[in-house]
Amino acid sequence: MDPRVLVAYATKYGATAEIAEKIGQAILQAGLQTDVLPTYSVNDLAPYKAVVLGSAVYVGQWRKEAVAFLEANEKAMAKMPVWFFSSGPTGEGDPVQLMQGWRFPEAQQPIANRIQPRDTAFFHGVLDLTKLSLAEKLLIKGHKAPVGDFRDWDAITSWAAAIADALK
Ligand SMILES: Cc1cc2nc3c(=O)[nH]c(=O)nc-3n(C[C@H](O)[C@H](O)[C@H](O)COP(=O)(O)O)c2cc1C
Repeated sequence: MDPRVLVAYATKYGATAEIAEKIGQAILQAGLQTDVLPTYSVNDLAPYKAVVLGSAVYVGQWRKEAVAFLEANEKAMAKMPVWFFSSGPTGEGDPVQLMQGWRFPEAQQPIANRIQPRDTAFFHGVLDLTKLSLAEKLLIKGHKAPVGDFRDWDAITSWAAAIADALK
């Protein structure tokens, strides 16, 4: 059986899980076997030839389970092709500009430097006030972050297609 591509993700409210599913579909359509799994359910990278790892961003940080995955699998990932993505900003325009130059959590940058990912993407996210806690709503209102689903499916699909091309 061909080695597979792992798309591992960390999400709180589901928006990043759907981005991961879309990435997995695009890689599968390009003819590569993929598993799309939450980070906490992956124990072993041995079946995989490449990893795409993504997390939702909350207050400039990746989700704890994505950080745990990164730390637990650093050695294995340093030996294979790896891509990172984050998701979060709402509003129109380039996500990195919307987040004042943020592209990846600073605390995990040393690990990323050792893994040397092929690319680090930052995608728009979703803010659905009906799902948020009161504290989260207040924080979002304080930052005047636009509410809605700003995910750019074309950008996500073409990024995933480029991953499949690189692996073929
Ligand atoms: C309390 C709170 C803090 C957030 N902080 C950030 C942030 O620092 N940077 C960012 O890009 N997005 C931020 N977001 C937006 C989320 O990343 C966005 O809602 C994302 O789509 C959530 O993904 P999930 O549904 O997979 O959890 C924040 C959202 C909330 C509710």
